[in-house]
Amino acid sequence: MDSFYIRGGNALKGQVRISGSKNATLPIMAATLMADDEVVLCGVPDLEDINVMSDVLTLLGATVKRENDVLIIDSSNVNCIELPEHMSRRMRASNLVMGALLARFKKAAVAYPGGCAIGSRPMDLHLKGFRALGYNIADQCGVMCGKAENLGGQETLLDFPSVGATENIMMAAALTPGITTLRNAAREPEIIDLQNFLNRMGARIRGAGLDTIRIEGVNRLHGVEHTVIPDRIEAGTFMAAAAITHGDVMIDNIVLEHIQSLVAKLREIGVAISSNGSWVRISGHQPLRSADIKTMPYPGFPTDMQPQMMALMSTVAGTSIVVETIFENRFMHVHELRRMGADIKIEGRVAIIRGRENLEGAAVEATDLRAGAALVLAGLHARGETRVGKLEHIDRGYDKLHCKLRQLGADIERRP
Ligand code: UD1
Repeated sequence: MDSFYIRGGNALKGQVRISGSKNATLPIMAATLMADDEVVLCGVPDLEDINVMSDVLTLLGATVKRENDVLIIDSSNVNCIELPEHMSRRMRASNLVMGALLARFKKAAVAYPGGCAIGSRPMDLHLKGFRALGYNIADQCGVMCGKAENLGGQETLLDFPSVGATENIMMAAALTPGITTLRNAAREPEIIDLQNFLNRMGARIRGAGLDTIRIEGVNRLHGVEHTVIPDRIEAGTFMAAAAITHGDVMIDNIVLEHIQSLVAKLREIGVAISSNGSWVRISGHQPLRSADIKTMPYPGFPTDMQPQMMALMSTVAGTSIVVETIFENRFMHVHELRRMGADIKIEGRVAIIRGRENLEGAAVEATDLRAGAALVLAGLHARGETRVGKLEHIDRGYDKLHCKLRQLGADIERRP
């Protein structure tokens, strides 16, 4: 198995292009199951999670072809409504096929995806939403079995603005008769992208990006061509990489509006950020200062940037406090950062970070996707060599990370 070998200390300089969004592509791929002819998706990142979703669609009977960053998906021959446990366990987001299968076939049997390193991640909100649409949902030996019972649009309110539940319910409702009003919906840009995609296919959905989404069910959805939005978390990771190395980086294919809370926090710390159309320039030459972060549903500070920012705060003078409110176990990177000399104390969901000027290279392991990114950032800053192992986590969600970092002048190699 490969590791990253990083010799820290190089200030990142130059230009980098952000790939398409993983978290926008995954629900859109699931939604292609609802089209009765071919869908062409452009700007698809080259990631392991995308390969897993391609395998999921193929198992259900779709054909998936990839040509560079374009995916051509034909779901016209899909005839299977069952996703077995060995498949659903491979990736949490595989659960997104449940809404699409219910919409198209009015029945589905999807094995529970299971928890993951950052939390138990139940499915109760998804299932409550399906029930509200009139699906009978039963648990059968670890499988979520859904069948149309008394379909009709409904008012439904999420107890928490879950991203996946919002997407799953939007998909199921798009082909369910009547008008569904989904309240306390998640407001992430990826949900707007899913709405745009579904509407292009012929759906009638309004309100994505706000907390109330109105879905008028239609009878059929057809194939379309769609380009996914840029990955705001990859963009944020490169912004943090520029800051932690005191570099000067121009980022292309980035939507600043999607990362306002991160931009505000980086500016508070002292990072200079300027924008010119689709380019954003990040400069971390100035002395940086500590700041506090609390993760929140969008448009609050994204939990998917918390580990990377913790790596940055570990190198900034002063005390920073990070509160994680979204996932109950998202401090796995702390143990590894401590190996590199970071001074971080955990009290429940609160981390207290006393910044120090230098981290030291060490052998560390990614425990999940964003934890892995945090360790890479720490390695770019640290004195000496850092070896980051368990790259399978990083491969899930970063498209050619080490190539892009090398292009910016990082001393990073990937090898066994
Ligand atoms: C999505 C993102 C992930 C991001 C997360 C939060 C994708 C593919 N993944 O994950 O990168 O970290 O949003 O921004 O888009 N919850 C319940 N019951 C449910 C569903 C969720 O209690 O039925 C809880 C979860 O355990 C978690 C919180 O709600 O504590 C947020 O989860 P959710 O917004 O659903 O995240 P995902 O859609 O899984």
